Parts: sequence; structure tokens; C-alpha cells
Amino acid sequence: MNKDKIAIVGLGYVGLPLAHAFSEKYEVVGYDINQARVDELENSFDRTQELTSVQLQEAKKNGIKFTTAFEEMKNSNIYIVTVPTPIDKKNEPDLTPILKSTQSVAKVLKKGDIVIYESTVYPGVTEEVCVPILEEGSGLKFNETFFCGYSPERINPGDKEHTVTKILKITSGSTPEIAKKVDELYKSIITAGTYLAANIKVAEAAKVIENTQRDVNIALMNELAMIFDTMGIDTNAVLEAAATKWNFIKLSPGLVGGHCIGIDPYYLVHKAQSLGYTPNLILGARHINNGMSKLIADKAIKFMIKEDKKLKGANVLVLGITFKENCPDMRNTKVVDIISELREYECNVDVYDYWVDESDKKTKDVPFIDELSYGSNKYDSIIVAVGHDKFKTITQEEFTSLSNGKPIIIDVKGIVENPTWRL
Ligand SMILES: NC(=O)c1ccc[n+]([C@@H]2O[C@H](COP(=O)([O-])OP(=O)(O)OC[C@H]3O[C@@H](n4cnc5c(N)ncnc54)[C@H](O)[C@@H]3O)[C@@H](O)[C@H]2O)c1
Repeated sequence: MNKDKIAIVGLGYVGLPLAHAFSEKYEVVGYDINQARVDELENSFDRTQELTSVQLQEAKKNGIKFTTAFEEMKNSNIYIVTVPTPIDKKNEPDLTPILKSTQSVAKVLKKGDIVIYESTVYPGVTEEVCVPILEEGSGLKFNETFFCGYSPERINPGDKEHTVTKILKITSGSTPEIAKKVDELYKSIITAGTYLAANIKVAEAAKVIENTQRDVNIALMNELAMIFDTMGIDTNAVLEAAATKWNFIKLSPGLVGGHCIGIDPYYLVHKAQSLGYTPNLILGARHINNGMSKLIADKAIKFMIKEDKKLKGANVLVLGITFKENCPDMRNTKVVDIISELREYECNVDVYDYWVDESDKKTKDVPFIDELSYGSNKYDSIIVAVGHDKFKTITQEEFTSLSNGKPIIIDVKGIVENPTWRL
């Protein structure tokens, strides 16, 4: 075992796999404020499905401790903060979890300790927001008696190939010596290697622009899809053709939900606006991407009207509600906006998503069904909202046996052979 003792603060999608990876070489304490989450982890169950129960048992064998008591971090000398960074109703950063977790760390911080942030933030959060809290709570002095680092996480929920140790990791530190130490710490577990950034703000900015770039590029695809739709041109066929050029960036139109891509750009927007710059391109992209749910619901409505269906009481089946394919994560899913829009027309909506955990279903005000009622001829329209693997295998006959009359299939993900409409 290495002599450094690591505390992971926040045991979610990011923190838990990291805690597992470090536990192979270091003494690790995993701290989280959610007692239910800690209890489940103690029982080797990870509802995010990032770790298997075997991996959790391995971590336990390696001595990992999961706790809701921050005092149990007191023997650690490196604290890695992986708490959520959401936005509020006005799309402003909500730094509450970062502030509160930093206060907890400050209470156990000792001379020589290093606090590394992994949560996605705007440039400046580590040094301008967190450091003063750490100084005040600990009585220590930044870059004299304690130090900081920032190393953004790049994992992709549900992706079993690009797992934490297999993704090159950006590292940084508050002094050149600490930067080297932080880099070496991650190098010891990340087989894909590390990239030592010039400083903490560069590392913070690099992460937030990775997701902003993706958001803006997807917005362009969505805008193109809307243009081509009005022209009666198949967007996918256009993208296939354009992608034959070596430098064309191929992305697909679609819903942008989840905890990262649809959220992180607002962090950069907030910082830019606080400095007097309005980032119109980034805000425009957010506006386009947020509008896609309404467009999709409107398409279902339009095709039902065309087929003389009565909208009030029409049965609509929504296939998939998670924010992306093959994962159980429903955070900030834009599928719920499609459902709300359909309900405005008083349609009855059924949702089928075999990825969502039973207990998580209660957290959303949507009617989940447990299985697909083939042969029921129930649905006036079917919206394939998420590209889960199982949905790719539904045959034309099966769609017909679910449909009331001529099937109306709205395919958001381009996975149905003969949809009525495809984004
Ligand atoms: N999910 C991803 O794929 C992903 C990828 C890259 C970066 N990120 C970033 O990583 C950060 C964490 O994301 P996540 O998906 O792991 O979030 P998450 O919601 O899955 O997990 C966060 C955990 O932190 C805990 N927590 C909240 N407040 C706390 C506090 N005061 N003290 C201790 N624990 C606390 C929560 O109970 C939760 O278990 C975010 O900034 C996110 O943007 C996420």
C-alpha cells in the first residue's frame, strides 16, 4: 500500500469508480452525505451500475470504508472532491454541494494536506471560491500549509469501454511541486496516462469547454435537422454524405440531457457574464438543444392529426427515458419534456425503460409500464426516445402489433428501420 491516504468526497458516478481504482493501491475512505447510498455500497450494491458487486467486494477486501461521518476522513492526507455541480431554475450554477463538502473537508484538513477537485466548475472555483472556505475552516494557509489541485473527470456513464483508468486525465496543482505530486498520484492508477496542465484554471477551463464544444456542435446538427426537415431532406443521409470529407465533425442531432453537456456550458456562461461578456453562440446552442423536446412532441401530434386520431385520450408509448442509451441515469433527461408536452394535449403517455431501477421510477411523475404489450394494438403513436440496445431489435411487426391502426413511429435516435419521422 502507498503511504498516501485518500478520502473521496461524494460517491456518485464519478466518485465511486475512482474510489475503487485508488483502493487497489491506497488506503481509501469514501465519504457521502447520503446514508442510503452508503448503506447500499456497504452491501456491495451500486445503483448507478458503474461498479459490479464483485468490484465493490474487491474494494472492501482492499480495506475501503464508506461513511457518512466526515470525521472518518481525518487520517487522510489527500481529499478528492467529486460532488454534483448542478444549476438552479435560472440556469445559474448551484455551488451548494461544492461549498458544503469543502466545509466538511476544512474541518479535518491538516498541515501538508492536498485537496483536489474533480467536479466540473467554471475557471476560478477552486482558488477563488473553495480555497477561502478551506482557509477559514482549517485555520491553515493556502500554498503554505495546505495545497490544492484540479483534475477533471471525463467518464461517460454507461460506457464500459472508457472507464476511469482508461481515459487520459488532466491534472494540475497549486504549486509546481504539488502539480507534480497530483500528476504522479493519478499516474499511479490511470493506465491511459495524464496531462499536466499549466495551472488549475487551465484545467478547470479545459473540462468545461470539452462539454461546451459538444453542446454547440450538437446544436448545429439539431438546427440542420430542422432546416432539412422543412425541405423534406433526410438529415442522416446528408450527414453520412458530408462525413466522407476527412475533417467533417460527425455528430447526430438529438436530445441533450444529463448531468454534464446540458449543464456545464451554463457554468462558463455565468463566469463570462460576470465579467461583462455575453457568450451568444453558447447560449444560442443551449436554446436550440432545449427546444428539441417540444419539436419531437409536436411531430407526434402532427402525424396523429394527419391520421385523424383524437388527441385527447390518445395513447402514446415513449420508449426510453434515461438521458442516454444503455445507462440508468435519468438526471436532467429531456424525455420528460416530451411527455409534459404530450400531456398538454391530454394524451395518455406510457413509458417503457428497462434500464431504470424500480426505486428510481418513483422519483419521476411518469407512468412506467413493466413490459411491452405486443399484440395489444394500443398505441396511437410510439416515440423511440432513447437508443437502448433492446429497442434496436424491435421488429416492424412488433411495432405494428403495439399500434392502433397504422403505426406512427417517431424515431429520435435513428434506430428504427421505417419510422414515420426521424430526427
Ligand atoms: N456523471 C458523469 O458522467 C460525469 C462525468 C464527468 C464529470 N462529472 C462531474 O463530476 C461531478 C460529480 O458528478 P456525479 O455524476 O458523480 O454526481 P452524482 O450525483 O452521481 O454523485 C455525487 C455524490 O455526491 C454526494 N454529495 C452531495 N453533496 C455532498 C456533500 N456535501 N458531501 C459529500 N457528498 C456529497 C451525493 O450524495 C452523491 O452521492 C459533477 O461536477 C459532474 O459534473 C460527471
